[in-house]
Amino acid sequence: MTQPIASPGVTRQPIERNLAMELVRVTEAGAMAAAQHMGMGNKELVDQAAVDAMRFTLDGISMDGVVVIGEGEKDEAPMLYNGERIGDGTPPGVDIAVDPIDGTTLLSKGLPGAISVIAMAGRGMMHVPEGVFYMDKIAVGPEAASVIDLDAPVADNLHAVARALGRKISEVTVIVLDRSRHQGLIEQIRATGARIKLISDGDVIAGIQAALPNTSVDVLLGIGGAPEGVITAAAIRCTGGAILCRAWPRTDEEREQLAESGVDLARVYDTDELVGGEDVFFAATGASTGEVLDGVRFTANGATTQSLVMRSRSGTLRWIESVHDFTRLDKVRFK
Ligand code: FBP
Repeated sequence: MTQPIASPGVTRQPIERNLAMELVRVTEAGAMAAAQHMGMGNKELVDQAAVDAMRFTLDGISMDGVVVIGEGEKDEAPMLYNGERIGDGTPPGVDIAVDPIDGTTLLSKGLPGAISVIAMAGRGMMHVPEGVFYMDKIAVGPEAASVIDLDAPVADNLHAVARALGRKISEVTVIVLDRSRHQGLIEQIRATGARIKLISDGDVIAGIQAALPNTSVDVLLGIGGAPEGVITAAAIRCTGGAILCRAWPRTDEEREQLAESGVDLARVYDTDELVGGEDVFFAATGASTGEVLDGVRFTANGATTQSLVMRSRSGTLRWIESVHDFTRLDKVRFK
């Protein structure tokens, strides 16, 4: 169900602390816990390990948080469920969106590109696509932010992006989830002459890659998870750029159900409508090494991690390399 962009009565005090600096400890914990099970072929195990570690670390943050995008409903997820209150209840009041591991299949197979990710915004500022499983998405960086249009043909979008980037269309690279539902989309992209990078999972980091400067990707296109769309929007609020999303029902039955429950299936949400307000915080840590983030590297009694930490208000992007000593970390965690 569509929710208001800002809940009535919400005070819009700027959030003084850079919560992203605290959030990175959460995604580091998630990535390290999950990466211990890399390649075991068990996606539930990597997800659960990340959930447990993130939930534990989140408790140490002073805030009045509500999980608005989490592991599902309370009866199916004991932790990080939608609606769960997190923190000590002191201000700021924030919405939390979490994907403990985006790319559980990747990590369970030891493949590149799995990340642990969390985003925060002021209370009532995240659009929660209730009941919507997939969204159709297009994401780009700042130069092309004003030229994309989800209602326009693929070729028009790609030509407009090429113009905005000052390149030939053959010099534009589009990243797409490798799914049978994208067969037509892939043919349309190929017909323009643009290059394609197909990925087997992980469209959050793919969308971020499209929005970051100096990467090998210029545009994300295609249908992926709805929660992942909102989390990507939080990141793009910080990097600059744009993402547009529209609900994509899987079946006629789902289309009818969503329409009956009041979801506007024609509505395209832009970046600010997906995640509003001035204060958006984002952290992601690589679990398995990908093009944007290195994964967890285990050492004797420890690990190293690489994270991307961002805040919308300042627009600062921080790449944080951390060295973790498990012998001491356990004393801190369990004191
Ligand atoms: P999980 O880690 O939850 O499996 O999600 C991986 C992912 O590839 C997302 O990045 C993407 O949005 C979604 O799955 C696509 O869904 P599907 O695999 O059903 O096409």
